[in-house]
Amino acid sequence: MNQSPKILLVEDDAAIVTTLRRVLADEGYEVAIEKNGDAGLARAKDDSFDVVITDLKLPGLNGLELVRELHAIRPRLPILMMTAHGTTETAIEATQSGAYDYLLKPFEMPELLKLVEQAVAASRLMTEPVQLGDAGKSRLAIVGNSRAMQSIYKEIGRIAAKPVTVMIRGETGTGKELIARAIYQHSDRVNAPFVAINCAAIPETLLESELFGHERGAFTGAESRRIGRFEQADHGTIFLDEIGDMTPGTQVKLMRVLQEKNLQRLGGKETIPVDVRVIAATHRDLEAAIQKNQFREDLYYRISVAVLNLPPLRERKEDIPELIRFFLQKYGAEFGVENPAIHPDAVEFLQAQPWPGNVRELENVTRKMLLAAQSYTISVEHVRSALAKTGPPTADTGKTLQAFAEELIAAAQRGELADAHARMHETAERAIISRAIELAQGNQARAARWLGISRLTLREKLIQFGLHPNQE
Ligand SMILES: Nc1ncnc2c1ncn2[C@@H]1O[C@H](COP(=O)(O)OP(=O)(O)OP(=O)(O)O)[C@@H](O)[C@H]1O
Ligand SMILES: [Mg+2]
Repeated sequence: MNQSPKILLVEDDAAIVTTLRRVLADEGYEVAIEKNGDAGLARAKDDSFDVVITDLKLPGLNGLELVRELHAIRPRLPILMMTAHGTTETAIEATQSGAYDYLLKPFEMPELLKLVEQAVAASRLMTEPVQLGDAGKSRLAIVGNSRAMQSIYKEIGRIAAKPVTVMIRGETGTGKELIARAIYQHSDRVNAPFVAINCAAIPETLLESELFGHERGAFTGAESRRIGRFEQADHGTIFLDEIGDMTPGTQVKLMRVLQEKNLQRLGGKETIPVDVRVIAATHRDLEAAIQKNQFREDLYYRISVAVLNLPPLRERKEDIPELIRFFLQKYGAEFGVENPAIHPDAVEFLQAQPWPGNVRELENVTRKMLLAAQSYTISVEHVRSALAKTGPPTADTGKTLQAFAEELIAAAQRGELADAHARMHETAERAIISRAIELAQGNQARAARWLGISRLTLREKLIQFGLHPNQE
């Protein structure tokens, strides 16, 4: 973390090289220079740079080609593109080809330095493990190279070191807490405490004293003074998880503390200054909660200066294979399975699932299938049995659709699932598709014709349902 960041500058103009080298070195960066695109690419491939800065016009490979090729090989390495010849179009093209950002010449040095700083933060974020838990025993990387995740990393790079509140939104299991810790780890408050509190897990009556503390005798049962989480987090960061579950009364108090930057413990008279950065998270629709007067609008604006929307896993399915590999390594080590192996069909099958529980659900399923496979290569069958165990009702063969519908509704009423409609739909679809393919003896063209769907759609469904699409 404290090693000076390494920057590769690919530029053929000697005057610019001299200036940039000096400015960057003054800021404590280690700078390497290449004068043409091909050499730049070769160097960037081999060496471990934090950031690459490249010109657009270069001898050999031009800047845009460099961005494209380098980004394909090292998707996590931020590349900044300088362009004088361009219209913004080139700049946009560069960003679309994977450049982290661009600078239009002539630019001011502070502008360059700001971008470099953000890019370094993003780069380290993507390559350094995030510390989990207080003792820092387990360290975990943020996995995922999808476009959606890359823009999250980029956003974190931009906001981590700024003194702004951050709101992290996303469905359950999308990694909100992991991202909150990553922001903290890349902020200038990293040497001060990170205090996490789950607002949904603490009863309303206790939450306020948990957050702000109380004096002895403040209420029945308050036998001694308690220092609240805000005071504990002074000069550091507080993570208010599930803030959408906070009651209006507590919201008012929180708002006041954020506004005044000081607090009074419950039953106390003393005004205690607190300097705390707030990162909040919720899976709730706060706009709807505001409409219903369940969430204060002023608090919403106060804590949402920067907003990160974590994408659900189903919108970044390309990350699934890497996540599986990552969790297999993690649990393989835990269960004493050396280099756990998984069949490509099983990966494809996993990739086709809807994952309403997102990364957390994928992690659980990976653990279960690893146990089911008992050191053998994980197959579609293992996946299927692991999936069956996680889920609320599954449609056993032979169960009527009506009976299954009853079960789903009952489970939904108990709060065990939130996607009854999708499950019913999938079950019905699976039933007719598997029957058609069986009667067509695996002939997909014929089955598709009977069903009135395209062959392509049929094939996608077969993969989604794990029905061995390759048997023709
Ligand atoms: N991108 C990722 N790479 C690796 N692990 C991840 C990633 N995203 C989530 N995880 C893992 O998935 C699990 C769930 O993540 P996390 O607790 O951060 O989600 P969350 O959004 O806070 O969920 P919830 O709303 O249920 O509290 C954790 O074990 C976390 O380490
Ligand atoms: Mg969480």
